[in-house]
This record gives sequence, C-alpha cells and structure tokens, in this order.
Amino acid sequence: MPSSRNVALLIGSLRKESITRKVARALVAVAPGGLHLDEVEIGALPHYNQDLEAAVPDAWAAFRSRVQAMDAVLFATPEYNRSVPGVLKNAIDVGSRPYGKSVWSGKPCAVVSVSPGVIGGFGANQHIRQSFVFLDMPAMQQPEAYIGGAAALFDDAGTLINDSTREFLAKYMTAFAAWIERTRKS
Ligand code: FNR
Repeated sequence: MPSSRNVALLIGSLRKESITRKVARALVAVAPGGLHLDEVEIGALPHYNQDLEAAVPDAWAAFRSRVQAMDAVLFATPEYNRSVPGVLKNAIDVGSRPYGKSVWSGKPCAVVSVSPGVIGGFGANQHIRQSFVFLDMPAMQQPEAYIGGAAALFDDAGTLINDSTREFLAKYMTAFAAWIERTRKS
C-alpha cells in the first residue's frame, strides 16, 4: 500500500441535502490510510463551449489544474434519466479539453452510483463508463457500487446508520486503493 495518494472526489449532485453527498462523505470516512480524498467542486464551472478556450474561464483553469495534480478520481453520482446529471458530464467535458491535454488521461477511477430507488443508479454507473473508455481512465470493475434505497441509509443528521453498507463501502475503498496502485502510470 502506498504512503499517500491524492484522489479527486467529484459529486454529481449540487443540492444541499444530496444523498449522494452523504454517501460520498461516508466513503471518505472509511477510506484506508494513505488515500486522501479531496472534493473538487463542479457546480460553478461554466458550460463547456469551445469558443471559451480562447480566454479560458478562471473556474475551468482552476478545475483543470486541481484535477491534473491528483493521482486518481472517485465519482459519486446520482442517476438522472438513466444517465449522469448534466453538471457532472459538463465537468468531465471541461477537464477533457483542449484536445491532447485532458486532465483525465491515464488516471485510475471508480464510480459509485446512488439512488433512493431500487436499481441503485445502474444506468448512470454504466453510462459514465462509456466516457472513461474514451478518456483512457482505467475504471475499477469490481467491486461495483450501486447504492440503492439510499435515502433510508442515513439518519436526519446525515449519519450513515447501516452497518452492512459501511462495511461494503470500506471494502470498496480498500479495493480502490489497490486498483490505483495496479493501474496508475506514474
Ligand atoms: C431523478 N431521479 C432518478 N432516480 C433514478 O433512480 N433514476 C433516474 O433515472 C432518475 N432520474 C431523475 C431525473 C431528474 C432530473 C431528477 C431531479 C431526479 C431521482 C433521484 O435519484 C433523486 O432525486 C436523488 O435524490 C438525487 O440524488 P441526490 O441529489 O439526493 O444526491
């Protein structure tokens, strides 16, 4: 296990009471020592527009350099209409350009999908993987994380109250740490 790896945490929901954010915080809490998760905000990124590359918005530049400096990326996402929310896709697009300078390239990643429904965001989880292939991001395949019935996993204070979920999330993060070591390029 490495002494230290920095992981960008991208959360696909902007709302205050987001269940996905609660799951993301639970993931941070159970991450093995040496894995440092740092949430990278995506809500203020202007919509991707190639014309803006002529005078790159500060928010894009800050986002790109922050992700570029990371060793790996963990995506936590809700499912919107069987895909990921547009805000997350926008962040992926912003980080992917200009062509040849993608900040995602070669970075190990994993995706945790979250839903109050029973399917656990399966559609979003699979859909984002299509982008990982093009972005050349080695995406952890096992274990998969489809966190269904997620609204019932937390109390009113946002604390995870389900022990088997906590145990699963801990195993997931341990596997992700190993995946980063196995697949990172430098
Ligand atoms: C949803 N929701 C939803 N849920 C799901 O399981 N599959 C889906 O395809 C969709 N589609 C969808 C579209 C839009 C526009 C919204 C606003 C919501 C419900 C969604 O899972 C629920 O609102 C979650 O609470 C959103 O995640 P956060 O914000 O709690 O993290």
